[in-house]
Parts: sequence; C-alpha cells; structure tokens
Amino acid sequence: MGSPLEHTLTDAVLARIEGNADPRFRQIMTSLIRHLHAFVRETELTEAEWFAGIQFLTATGQKCDDKRQEYILLSDTLGVSMLVDAINHRKPGSATETTVLGPFYVPGSKHLPMWADIAAGLPGVPAYVHGRVLDVDGKPIVGAELDVWQNDAEGFYDVQRPGASYARGKFTTDAEGRFGFRTIRPVSYPIPTDGPVGKMLLGMGRHPYRPAHVHTKVSAPGYEPIITHLFVQGDPYLGSDAVFGVKDSLVVEFVAHSAGPTPDGGNSTVPFHTAQYDFRLVKMR
Ligand code: BEZ
Ligand code: FE
Repeated sequence: MGSPLEHTLTDAVLARIEGNADPRFRQIMTSLIRHLHAFVRETELTEAEWFAGIQFLTATGQKCDDKRQEYILLSDTLGVSMLVDAINHRKPGSATETTVLGPFYVPGSKHLPMWADIAAGLPGVPAYVHGRVLDVDGKPIVGAELDVWQNDAEGFYDVQRPGASYARGKFTTDAEGRFGFRTIRPVSYPIPTDGPVGKMLLGMGRHPYRPAHVHTKVSAPGYEPIITHLFVQGDPYLGSDAVFGVKDSLVVEFVAHSAGPTPDGGNSTVPFHTAQYDFRLVKMR
C-alpha cells in the first residue's frame, strides 16, 4: 500500500493547468503528464534511476550546439521522428514516401546545372542519379527543385569535417520533369555515437548504422514538398536502420556498369553506377 499521494498526484498535477490555457497546449501537456506518471508507476522508478534520467537529459542538452542536435538524434533513435513523420504525411499510395531529415541538412545549397558533379574531387565509386519529378497521375512537373545531400566514401557529411563543403546541391527539373546529377555511391555510416545517445544505444545492445542513402528535399510550386531519401539496394543495414527511416518504396538499385557511355551523354574511363527514380508529389490542398 503506497501513500494516498501515489494515487492522487496525477490528477492533482492535471488540475493545476489553467482553465484558460491554449486548448492544444492543454491537450499535449495533459497527455504528457499522464504518460510520464504512468511510466514512473509501471517501472517503479528508483530515485537513482530518476537521477540518472535527469543526468542523461542534461548531457543531451549539453551536447547540442549550432552543428550538433543531440535531442533530434534521441528522437530519431527512439522512433519518435518517424512516428511524427508518418502521422503528418499520410499520402495517397502513389505519392513518394517521406523519411527523416536528419541533422546534416544545410539550407542554401548552390543551384547547379543538370548533370553537375556534387562530389567532384571526392574518392569513391562514380554514380549518376537521375529520374523525373511527376504528379500522382504521372504528369511531369517542370521546374521542380531537388535539394540533395549525402556523405563521402568514408561515411562523413561535409559538416562533420570542419571547414569542408561537398556533396550537396540543388537541381531543377527540365521541360519533361527530368533531373540528373553526378555523385559518388553513398556508403552506410554510424550516426554520431560520441554523446549520450551513443551510450544509450550501446546500453540497449543496438548498432548505430544507417544504410547508404542520398537525402532529397523535393518541392514545386503548388505541390506539397517532401523530405525523403533514396536508399541503396543491397545495403546490409536496410533491415535495421538505427533511426527506422527505411521504406521499401525508397530502395533503389545502383546498377554497376563497366567503363563506357554515361547517362549524361559522356564517357567514363572507370566503372560507374547508375540509379533511376521518379518522385511523385501531391497537389497542395
Ligand atoms: C542522416 O541520415 O543524415 C541522419 C538521420 C538521423 C540521425 C542521424 C543522421
Ligand atoms: Fe544521412
């Protein structure tokens, strides 16, 4: 038998929310308090465990700066980011599915011409990524913008290397809705593990890897913008992405070719890969 407070405290806390509080804020805080209290009751949290939790959240905040967002990493690894994404992007079956933005997006990338090489000078397997941006009925969208970013052959994004800038750019679809760019084949990589989220993953016996992917933000006037990835077919981490971001419809074959003609009309003296994908956007409601 616990003290009466153990049974009455949740209602007492909820009763303190002002009657004139914003209704949505009231709804969110009521649910949060109920679930937090239920979690403490279910686990019968010890004082030491409660304090370890406080220390974990403190360390998570202390790890954040203008380049590192450890709370987003926490949300991603607990599946919360993908749940929020799923609830907020319920789309018709033919629309391209969405996935996490991740912490390595940088706004303001340069606009580049069709077939520009976003990975010029980087070691790696050359790859040509191309396709179309269509509406859900298959009609080409002219002037759609693709903002793309990816990692290097060692698994790092430019922002993870002080002063570096590479493997990102913006492309615009042509009169037939086509886009194309040159890059290197992305590789699977571990999300940052040098902070509290890394320790949490280790404690749960989870690996930190994401399957290889190219990030894309696709937008066009009059259409709902999407944030998504193209995942590399055959990657060993497709079934166990550390942030639960994989959707089958986003897995693309990177086809290996011997040296020879390339999709941009050129000729490669070394073997290369090609990947083809059509994005489908939904009209703005
Ligand atoms: C990424 O794909 O860049 C990413 C997504 C979530 C967490 C860490 C990295
Ligand atoms: Fe990524």
